Amino acid sequence: MCGIVAYIGNQQAQPIVIKGLKRLEYRGYDSTGISSHDEESLHTLKTAGKVSDLEAIIATVPANTATVALGHTRWATHGVPNDVNAHPQTSNSGNLVIVHNGIIENYASLKKELQHRGFTFQSDTDTEVLINLIQDVQDKENVKLGKAVQIALSQVIGAYAIVVFDRRKPNELVAARLGSPLAIGIGDEEFFVASDATPFIEYTKNVIYLEEEHLAIIRRNKAIKIRKIEDDLEVEPYVEKLQLSLENIQKGGYDHFMLKEIFEQPKAIQDTLRGRLLSQEGVITLSSLREHENRFLKAKRILIVACGTSWHAGLVAEYLIEDFTRIPVEVEYASEFRYRNPIIYPDDVVIAISQSGETADTIAAINIAKEKGAFVYGICNVVGSTISRITHTGCYTHAGPEIGVASTKAFTTQITVIALIGLYLGKANGTLSRSQYQEYVTELESLPNKVESIFASQTYIEEVAASFETSQNCIYLGRGYNFPVALEGALKLKEISYIHAEGYPAAEMKHGPIALIDKEMPVVVIATKKGYYEKVVSNIQEIKSREGRIIAIVSKGDTQVKELADYCIEIPDSSESFAPILSTIPLQLLSYYIAVQRGCNVDQPRNLAKSVTVE
Ligand code: G6P
Repeated sequence: MCGIVAYIGNQQAQPIVIKGLKRLEYRGYDSTGISSHDEESLHTLKTAGKVSDLEAIIATVPANTATVALGHTRWATHGVPNDVNAHPQTSNSGNLVIVHNGIIENYASLKKELQHRGFTFQSDTDTEVLINLIQDVQDKENVKLGKAVQIALSQVIGAYAIVVFDRRKPNELVAARLGSPLAIGIGDEEFFVASDATPFIEYTKNVIYLEEEHLAIIRRNKAIKIRKIEDDLEVEPYVEKLQLSLENIQKGGYDHFMLKEIFEQPKAIQDTLRGRLLSQEGVITLSSLREHENRFLKAKRILIVACGTSWHAGLVAEYLIEDFTRIPVEVEYASEFRYRNPIIYPDDVVIAISQSGETADTIAAINIAKEKGAFVYGICNVVGSTISRITHTGCYTHAGPEIGVASTKAFTTQITVIALIGLYLGKANGTLSRSQYQEYVTELESLPNKVESIFASQTYIEEVAASFETSQNCIYLGRGYNFPVALEGALKLKEISYIHAEGYPAAEMKHGPIALIDKEMPVVVIATKKGYYEKVVSNIQEIKSREGRIIAIVSKGDTQVKELADYCIEIPDSSESFAPILSTIPLQLLSYYIAVQRGCNVDQPRNLAKSVTVE
């Protein structure tokens, strides 16, 4: 949550920072600001709203030639999104400026102490407390900025990624992280600091991902110094090469990132499988599994921790891994797991699923599992992310950057990885017969083409969406493997269209939701051929008898449901286990078109952020 961009070098800083903030708006977009320092003075501009609102303000003031600047796009935690609470925040002296991503949990007590010493506060933010704490340390101890930041941070409880500068020393930036990511781009006599590497990919491919509890001192035209906050120990920066390209993070002719990412799914799934699935030889190569095969095969239980859409992928994993391996699987919301004193055995395997690899609750759950001796496997999309680094091993989904706040290709590629894991283990422990295994492997390879074929219904789905324009509520039903898809379909709809939607196991409908059904209520039913088809048809009959409007996702060639449903969207036939990868695609498109037709901001839905780095 919240995006940070900072620049120091020889170029005009403001346009670089503004462009970078636009790329980070997926992290939050309720208010924004920038501070830059030219030879003479500090210029700070802040506003409630989006980076485009900030740009409009910038256009009204004289051009700024500063070569150092800090910018921020916010997802409010402390204090409503307004101009005053927007970052950057400045210390009482007017000298120190900060941008912050995270939460300072003990800010109230720190604020009280600072108030006793005469500090005053304009905003409601925890960030203003932190910058004044840094000033307080500087005043009292007469130390350099880096040291003052370090001492102040040692008094802080919470999570942060910060960049600070001192207007009296505009040749230096200080950056630090605990719990929220920071990437430092190293250009030619210039440096970039940002919440991820996208703001600087056209300037440099050299990046340092700042480690937890590390602090970086970045001086113009000098080498970066990194040290540990705890003990001042200097550490050698580890410079990595970025694999991202500009094309990966642009809309490429689509109206929205979400639509682009929906349509990227055949390729994304292909990329997930690439080099890992050799279908003709019947071989799955996942080195992370091969190296730790025994941990998995000896596990009495697999625990899955995740949040949001990744948790839905975890639910699919529960069905699939249990089916393929007969190893018991439990799925938990990471946010619940971390606080409920969970029972974890040293021979448990914990799988953490996360698109961003930065979700605060999932990180906390991993740390608990590790402390209790479990083996932790990560499934992440973002290369180099925190979760990919703190887990014992894992595997990337390789879906490419997902920028739309509503997750699409991350979900289908997570399930693809899970299918690979399930098949690998099912073969290794002998639960899957040779022929079953081979059938699944062949089918897995055909999935990108099957997904592609669903796009032929794009126009029809757009037409179906039109019938939702005035809906206030919607129910999604599915059974077995399609139950998590019902949850995911409902989540997509509420996230981007603001229609209240509930996902339910189809048979549970009669224990409550059926009371809601009348002729105003759209009910989306996933009724694919394999797995409980007849049962779902009965559920559809029950809805029909109560005049609900039925939108069904059916297998190609279906006739039975077509007679009952108001709308039927066909998808290719598949095994029950892989159905979620296909049945979720029309639901993504349906939500997308409903949201567009209702005039919603699809890529930046209200109140949401893509990467939830606070708990
Ligand atoms: C946020 C996003 C969701 C995502 C969830 C978990 O809520 O808006 O799209 O599913 O976080 O994120 P992760 O990066 O851990 O998968």
